[in-house]
Amino acid sequence: MYSIFHADKPDKRGRLRSRSLFIIGLGIVGFLLAGCAGQPSPLDPKGPDARQTANLWWLMFAVAAVVFIVVTVLLLIAIIRARRAQAEVNPYPQDRRALVLVIIGGAVIPAVVLIVLMSLSVMTERAGASPAGGRGTVEVIGHDWWWEVRYPDQKVVTANEVHIPVGEPMLVKVTSGDVIHSFWIPQLHGKIDVIPGQTNTIWLQADQPGTYRGECAEYCGTQHAKMDFVVVAESPADFRAWLNQQSQPAPVPQDEMVREGQQAFLGSSCVYCHAIAGTNASGTIGPDLTHLASRSTLGAGAIPNTRGNLAGWIVNSQAIKPGNKMPPMYLDSDQLQALLAYLETLK
Ligand code: CUA
Repeated sequence: MYSIFHADKPDKRGRLRSRSLFIIGLGIVGFLLAGCAGQPSPLDPKGPDARQTANLWWLMFAVAAVVFIVVTVLLLIAIIRARRAQAEVNPYPQDRRALVLVIIGGAVIPAVVLIVLMSLSVMTERAGASPAGGRGTVEVIGHDWWWEVRYPDQKVVTANEVHIPVGEPMLVKVTSGDVIHSFWIPQLHGKIDVIPGQTNTIWLQADQPGTYRGECAEYCGTQHAKMDFVVVAESPADFRAWLNQQSQPAPVPQDEMVREGQQAFLGSSCVYCHAIAGTNASGTIGPDLTHLASRSTLGAGAIPNTRGNLAGWIVNSQAIKPGNKMPPMYLDSDQLQALLAYLETLK
């Protein structure tokens, strides 16, 4: 180790090397931070729970900064003193005062700081978990790799979109249909484990209308990174209108092409995995498609829900999200166009 007690100076090459290392290090940190740009941040909270978490984060950051500064100053003082005392035989005479300082600075103060921070951390977590008098309930079930979303009171089933009324806490019950996932909306709430055979609950609330991105925060297989969802916070009136619209069965086909599309759907293997309320399709392996056209993405955030993307997804979703459970569909062009026309009526 390059000793602070021996005043050897590093040679020019050594200095150059450490400077290059420093610049490379800065470059790497900058590159990694650039990856955070445009991502929803827990430090930009838009709901009560996320705000408490952010406040706790800033408090911990401030305490850590103060500790860092105090320790650095003490270290510098020690280095300067040690250099001055180099000539002395024993720069650290046995001193009761020094021992007391070590015990206070090394054990008592850290213990107090850590106990206070841990208590605040536990209190923050408990505040987020306790019922706050919400009205509605939404059930979220994690699957490889998408989210089933149910409103049991209104018998609404959808996927990858959780709608909530602004300013009202909503009880969210999460569980898993297969492996462990984690339900996380950085700007609204901390992560909650999604565990098969167990139901965990949180209270979700947003202060302002908006669409908040959520994601799976526990590695769950190949497409863990494509297991996104959105939380749409809207005015209570808009929320109830949405719920009412989502609780309707799919419309009966009104024209010939749409009717053909519905027949193509009901006569193919689609029905083994997907349900459409108002028809015989009642599969539960894949997302409910009753209101597919009202959703913003396909494949849990993999691609925007457009006609072209939907066609690509139906024909070969494996090229878009390899490993997902939907097999390629072999349809001729007329069948595909009819099927698309039908699916587009599922608003
Ligand atoms: Cu589900 Cu990661």
